[in-house]
Amino acid sequence: MHVPSPRGKIPLPIIIALACAVVFIAVLYAERVSFLSSSSIFKLNKSCHRRGTKLKSNDKKADEHLDDPIIDDRFDFDPEECNVANGKWVFNSSIKPLYSDRTCPYLDRQVSCEKNGRPDSDYRHWEWQPEDCTLPRFNPELALKKLRGKRLLFVGDSLQRGQWQSFVCLVEWIIPEDKKSMRRGRSRSVFKAKEYNATIEFYWAPYLVESNTDLHIIGDTTKRIIKVDSVAKHAENWMGVDILVFNSYVWWMSGPRIKTLWGSFSNGEEGFEELDTTIAYRIGLKTWANWVDTTINPNRTRVFFTTMSPTHTRNEDWNHKDGIKCFNETKPVMKKKFWGSGSDKKMMSVVANVVEKMKVPVTFINITQISEYRIDGHASVYTETGGKLLTDEQKADPIHNADCIHWCLPGVPDTWNQIFLAYL
Ligand SMILES: *[C@@H]1O[C@H](CO)[C@@H](O)[C@H](O)[C@H]1NC(C)=O
Ligand SMILES: *[C@@H]1O[C@H](CO)[C@@H](O)[C@H](O)[C@H]1NC(C)=O
Ligand SMILES: *[C@@H]1O[C@H](CO)[C@@H](O)[C@H](O)[C@H]1NC(C)=O
Ligand SMILES: *[C@@H]1O[C@H](CO)[C@@H](O)[C@H](O)[C@H]1NC(C)=O
Ligand SMILES: *[C@@H]1O[C@H](CO)[C@@H](O)[C@H](O)[C@H]1NC(C)=O
Ligand SMILES: *[C@@H]1O[C@H](CO)[C@@H](O)[C@H](O)[C@H]1NC(C)=O
Repeated sequence: MHVPSPRGKIPLPIIIALACAVVFIAVLYAERVSFLSSSSIFKLNKSCHRRGTKLKSNDKKADEHLDDPIIDDRFDFDPEECNVANGKWVFNSSIKPLYSDRTCPYLDRQVSCEKNGRPDSDYRHWEWQPEDCTLPRFNPELALKKLRGKRLLFVGDSLQRGQWQSFVCLVEWIIPEDKKSMRRGRSRSVFKAKEYNATIEFYWAPYLVESNTDLHIIGDTTKRIIKVDSVAKHAENWMGVDILVFNSYVWWMSGPRIKTLWGSFSNGEEGFEELDTTIAYRIGLKTWANWVDTTINPNRTRVFFTTMSPTHTRNEDWNHKDGIKCFNETKPVMKKKFWGSGSDKKMMSVVANVVEKMKVPVTFINITQISEYRIDGHASVYTETGGKLLTDEQKADPIHNADCIHWCLPGVPDTWNQIFLAYL
């Protein structure tokens, strides 16, 4: 049904009540008597009811109060009901991150911004607030309880490694020294929480599928060749895991076309073909999806996919003409639905398309929109290169040296894990 007349004329509570009633009736008809057992109806009832009462109790002032941050009419997080991506960053100086790059011993130098000399700290005090629901704060006890007796494995690139380190640091500080361990390897790293018999692991596979630049990284991107139909060597390491979290995006974005290889050619790597990046990405992801569908038992293993992490290398995107990429940015972009050129919507729809056709359900941790706002969250010049901290000289040359891909920790990836834990 369409609600006629301009919004201003009818008080909002009535519109909401009306809309709820209409949807409720429509769903009732669609699902007939089975409604009592239907979770969708139950949830609908819950949200409509909660919003309704809050508005009623505020009487006729409800309209004004809708924009009042003090009155919180959001309901508890429910992944099926709440679009987490729709919301805003709220500054709250009394929010303290659960860890710092000095207290957590497992953070890479690459993301330890404070240690690396980043002078400002506001970026650590923003909280993501979805519009329609309350996102619970990250609770380390709860996280470890959910992982009891389980293996959690993050698979992907360095951004995924950041999410893994964030997760480890968010929980490790509540575990006594002798009840935890960390083993770092070139492709696989394992954090163990002994009392919980739980592991939080990372596996390096920047394209998910195999390539000639997986372990011995080839600097010259034109020499990289992706084996879009091969995943077995990596996937061996993903067996027997209870919770898998994948990502893969930024490594594919080295140009409009990408060298790919499939089948077995007698002339080896010379048999590559250049494909459009989106096409290569689609084939690569289908190879991954096929492995998941034929190997994963969804009764035993849950599968997640972290969507693309935005890069912020074009300051024109956020109209900061005098800026230098993300360098010196200390506040998020406040423009609603801001979307920069670092996140390719076509690539996102490739993932959505591939996942839609899968048998095994895959839950998206959709971080793209929320992270788009956070031009202030990147490592910038407070990072390392080739295992060495940037020199003052390098720091003074942000055009060439600012890292606007990776995120400081603590920082934005902590919010990704907050969302992830809410889904878990
Ligand atoms: C709908 O919400 C009301 C008020 O909380 C509750 O009394 C009722 O049992 C709910 N109905 C269903 C079907 O859950
Ligand atoms: C800021 O965070 C503190 C501590 O968690 C909380 O008590 C307070 O309600 C928050 N303030 C706002 C405006 O969200
Ligand atoms: C610990 O977890 C593993 C799976 O990660 C399981 O095979 C094993 O039986 C568990 N051990 C105990 C003592 O619970
Ligand atoms: C998963 O569990 C359901 C219900 O218990 C069962 O019908 C189904 O066969 C199981 N699937 C697999 C792949 O084991
Ligand atoms: C970075 O920001 C600080 C504080 O706003 C300012 O003093 C400084 O000049 C800026 N540096 C550059 C290179 O823009
Ligand atoms: C992620 O969220 C954005 C909006 O914030 C949406 O456009 C996109 O389709 C979502 N991606 C996936 C894979 O669901």
